[in-house]
Parts: sequence; structure tokens; C-alpha cells
Amino acid sequence: MLSIPELIKKKRDGQTLNDDDIRAFINAVTSATIQDSQTGAMLMAIWQKGMVATETQSLTREMMLSGDVMSWPKEWAGIVVDKHSTGGVGDKVSLVLAPALAACGYKVPMISGRGLAHTGGTLDKLESIPGFNVYLTATQVMETLSSVGCCIVGQTESLVPADRILYALRDATSTVDSLPLITGSIISKKGAESLNALVLDVKFGHAALYKDLASAKELAHSLMTAGNGLGICTGAVLTRMDVPIGRRVGNSLEVMESLEALKGRGPPDLMELVTTQGGMLMMMSGKVSSQSEGSKLISEAVTGGAALSKFQAMMKAQGVANEVAQSLCAAHADYHRILRKAEHQMELKTQTEGTVRDINGMVLAEVLHKLGAGRTKAGEPINHSVGAELLVSLGQNVKKGVPWLCVHYERPALSSDQINQLQNALTVGAPRNDTHSHTLVAELLLPQ
Ligand code: URA
Repeated sequence: MLSIPELIKKKRDGQTLNDDDIRAFINAVTSATIQDSQTGAMLMAIWQKGMVATETQSLTREMMLSGDVMSWPKEWAGIVVDKHSTGGVGDKVSLVLAPALAACGYKVPMISGRGLAHTGGTLDKLESIPGFNVYLTATQVMETLSSVGCCIVGQTESLVPADRILYALRDATSTVDSLPLITGSIISKKGAESLNALVLDVKFGHAALYKDLASAKELAHSLMTAGNGLGICTGAVLTRMDVPIGRRVGNSLEVMESLEALKGRGPPDLMELVTTQGGMLMMMSGKVSSQSEGSKLISEAVTGGAALSKFQAMMKAQGVANEVAQSLCAAHADYHRILRKAEHQMELKTQTEGTVRDINGMVLAEVLHKLGAGRTKAGEPINHSVGAELLVSLGQNVKKGVPWLCVHYERPALSSDQINQLQNALTVGAPRNDTHSHTLVAELLLPQ
């Protein structure tokens, strides 16, 4: 068996790792017999040299097998489903879709992640709710799925521990945007969930990990090959990720927007993503014959309040006090009574008049990251109250001097450089009278 330095050298020199090599590396990561510097070096070698399909498949399988692989009662056959996104800005789809699917009779054992690079993480968002526990035992997951139908949890010592370790180190070593590492990370978690069907939201654009449609498509194919290779019926949707999704970015602000969406007041772009992915899953799992039929059922589960009841029950099952869950789900909740508001807010004003042509999600995310919404070191605490509210939307005609962004911040305070960066994130062009319709979904990829 090769030693760890020999394994690193093999990959660094562009050779193909075999199953034994990959197993040895993942075992060393999980058992902590490898130094972080060696793991970082291997991640960088994989980032630089890439992996062939057999290596990616082996990496995915070994990461999945680094912990428990869940098993479900026979009567759940065909109804255990999930979605996963490759990462976006303001991407809160999971918070709305998981309970909507549960309301439609599915079981959703979602294993999610934390913020990665500039993108937000579902676990960080949920932890802005006081008491929310993302670390459930296998028994608690089973109980929650039986009683509620959905749960959202993190990787633990027993659930894909290899991803928990590699995910944090990738963030700290600039090795996030690697096709085999993203594939291994996402599909190992979904494999451990023993799913019947999975839909992947593969993002492209200036605020996505991959900037153009062609490379996102390549990632979608890698993810679908790995998912279908583990026996999960896996489809993908390619979606634009340029402008933040919805009107709010930042952990607790996104929880508020998700709750608003669950009360039937969601922004159209967020709801487009929720209903498209939900509709695809319902079609892929054979419950409906077309995606649009499934989308309609998901939409009804949201507007009729069934999804909100599931979210409330999920919060309670995951440690949130009854009164807190109830207050957050009240029709006209005073969210800041429960979700901490940042000490300071600053409104930025438009500098010209015209039509809003672009709001650069990447710039917004990078500034918020520096203000404390994201991490630069594995395990670092984040400030859940840091974030921003968009006060204008794409295609809107605006006058000069109207507020377009409200930044929520604490320490560090916003520097003048950061204010300039944010101002430059807004593009206002010549006025237009036509209303600009902005659809995020570029293409659906169905399993063969
Ligand atoms: N989501 C994950 O879980 N892993 C990645 O690598 C990217 C997005």
C-alpha cells in the first residue's frame, strides 16, 4: 500500500488513483491519521489534475462508506427523495422544498452543508433559529421522518464524516470548485441517504462555482453519472446564478424569506426554483406523469399552508421550542423578536436613474462574507445576522437616489471600499418600458 506522501505524489504527477489508493486516502481522513497539510495537498493535487470517471465514482463511494448508510422501512420504497444545489447566493430552496415535499407525502432525509467559499449553507441558515439542532442521531432521523416527513441535518462522526472533514478543508484551501470534489461531496451525502430519486440544482453564472453553461453541464453529467451509479434515479436542472435568489441574502434574513415563502408570499424566482425541482422529483418518482403536474402540487402545498405546518413540525423535532416555532410560523410574525437583528443597517442609494439590469450576486456575497456572514477558516463562528436586503429587482425602473440595498452589519463595519464595491454591483441602464421577465431555469436533464 502506498504511503500518504506517495499517494499525493501519484496524483500530483497526474496518474490515476485506483480504488485501493482512494480507500486508503479516505480511511486516513476519517480516522484522522493524516495531517491537515497532507489532506490539503491531496485536495490541491485533485483540483489541479482532476479525476477520470472511475476515480470520481470510487471517491464518491468511499466517502459515502466513511459512515453509516441509512436504511428505510419497506413501505417507504419509492418515496425517499431529496434535492441538492451546487451552491448559490440567497439560495434558500431547501428550506421551502423539503417541507413542501413532506406535505406531498414524501420522506426527505436531507443531509446538507455549511457555507462553502462565497456560497451560503443550509445548515448555517437553520442554525440562526434559536435551538435548531442539525446533528441528529440515526434514530432521531428515523423518528423525524416517520412523524414529520423531512429533516435537514449535517454530516457527523457517523454520517459521511469524510465529507465533513474535506468540506471544511476545501473551503480553507481554495479547492472548492473541483468537479470530482463537488461530485464526491454531494453524491456521497445523497448515497448515505439511500434515496430513490434526487434532483440536482446545478448553477452557472458569475455567482456560481462554475461560470458558464458548458462547464455546469459537465458538472451535471458527472453528478448524474455518480448518482445513477449508486442506484439513485438522478436528474438535474441547470439554473442561472447571477443575481441573488429572492430579496434577502445572509443566514437569518434568508430564514425570514423562507418563512414568508412558506406563507405564500415567496418571491417569483425562489418559487420558480422550488416548483421546478419539486415537479421534477414528483415526475421522476412516478407520482405524476408530467413535471408541470408535480410543480402544481408543490405550489399548492405551499400556498395552502401544508408545507409551513411541516416546517413548524420539523423545527420542533429538531430542538426548537414550541413557542419559538409557533411564533415564527404565525401569519404576521415579528421575526426579529426571535431571529437576532444586526446592530447596524445602512441603505445604499442608486446613483443614476434607469432600469435595473444587474445586481452582481458574487460581489454582494464576497462583501457579506468579509463582514462575517461566511468563514475563512474551518470551524470558525459566523455572524448569522449579517446580510443584505435587496430593495429593487431586475427590470425595475428606478429614480436616482432611491434606496436599493439595505446592508445589515456589526463588526467589522463596512469600509468605504466595500461600499464602493457594493455600489458597483448594481447596474442601472437606459430606462425601458417593457417589463423584463427573468427565468432562471435554462435546461432540465432527466435520467435516461
Ligand atoms: N454542496 C456540497 O455539498 N458540496 C459541494 O462541494 C458543493 C455544494
